[in-house]
Amino acid sequence: MKIVQTFAEARELAGGRVGFVPTMGYLHEGHISLVDAARRESDTVTVSIFVNPLQFAPSEDLASYPRDLDRDVALVEAAGADIVFAPPLAEMYPSDPLTRVTVSDVTETMEGAIRPGHFDGVATVVAKLFAGIAPDAAYFGRKDAQQLVTVRRMTADLSFPIHIVGSPIVRESDGLALSSRNTYLNRDERIAARSLSTGMFAVAAAVRGGERSGTVLEQIAAGPVDAEPGIDLDYATLADQESAATIDALDRPAFLAVAARVGRTRLLDNVHIDPDGGDWVPDEGIRLDTTSILYREA
Ligand code: PAJ
Repeated sequence: MKIVQTFAEARELAGGRVGFVPTMGYLHEGHISLVDAARRESDTVTVSIFVNPLQFAPSEDLASYPRDLDRDVALVEAAGADIVFAPPLAEMYPSDPLTRVTVSDVTETMEGAIRPGHFDGVATVVAKLFAGIAPDAAYFGRKDAQQLVTVRRMTADLSFPIHIVGSPIVRESDGLALSSRNTYLNRDERIAARSLSTGMFAVAAAVRGGERSGTVLEQIAAGPVDAEPGIDLDYATLADQESAATIDALDRPAFLAVAARVGRTRLLDNVHIDPDGGDWVPDEGIRLDTTSILYREA
């Protein structure tokens, strides 16, 4: 495996069908599942590790975001990637960028409403990575549901010849969706955080039981979070998988997304719900049966 700092080297070393996994590092099994999917479908697997300042608001956790390149490199190598692209700030942003990629509409609900400018930062860096790496396919987690919608739309609108793959959420053994930010949680916060996934599993069960009402599914998602002291719900929303617009009933491919604040940490979770024959099938994701590598030292 090669570790490179420039787009030119990343392109020169790649051959055949290139599968690309963009990340901000401090990797866990969710990221590794994307590397695994890329490995199955590509000749070259390139993983980028870059904490993108453009997608953090001044009030957010850019400075404290966990970083450990040696640890990440070891994990990515073990997963069988070929290239790690870990650019310094000056490679990604040689000068203060005057150009921004703004994806309208799909970024107006949920996370977009709460984090103004966040998805401009995401779309801009992903567009730059797509242009600089020139992959055939790029792998994203369903964990960040609205980000996936935004990236799909940006890719189509800008005619990037890149196939976008969305992968299931990987969860800790008690159900909590893996996130690099889980490392911020203290013991009490970690217990409260579990309520998000409890709500998601209840939503999945309700969908399997025939529930189709957006309002009812949102109430089911919110219930466990509302009942838990020390965690504040930002939203529980049933949204269209293509437009990220709020919908009243489960009548098209959708996801039920929740966001909540525990102490200084924001957490996200969701259940994607896809049609299968005449039925609606919830994607609860994959649960680890051991402690996550997130809590393992390099
Ligand atoms: P980051 O949060 O590091 O996530 C990188 C990728 O891993 C994203 O596609 C995200 O959805 C996926 N991911 C995170 N947790 C996951 C989980 N528990 N299960 C499955 N997939 C998971 O998302 C970003 O970085 C950035 O916004 C980025 C796209 C790299 C642009 O800077």
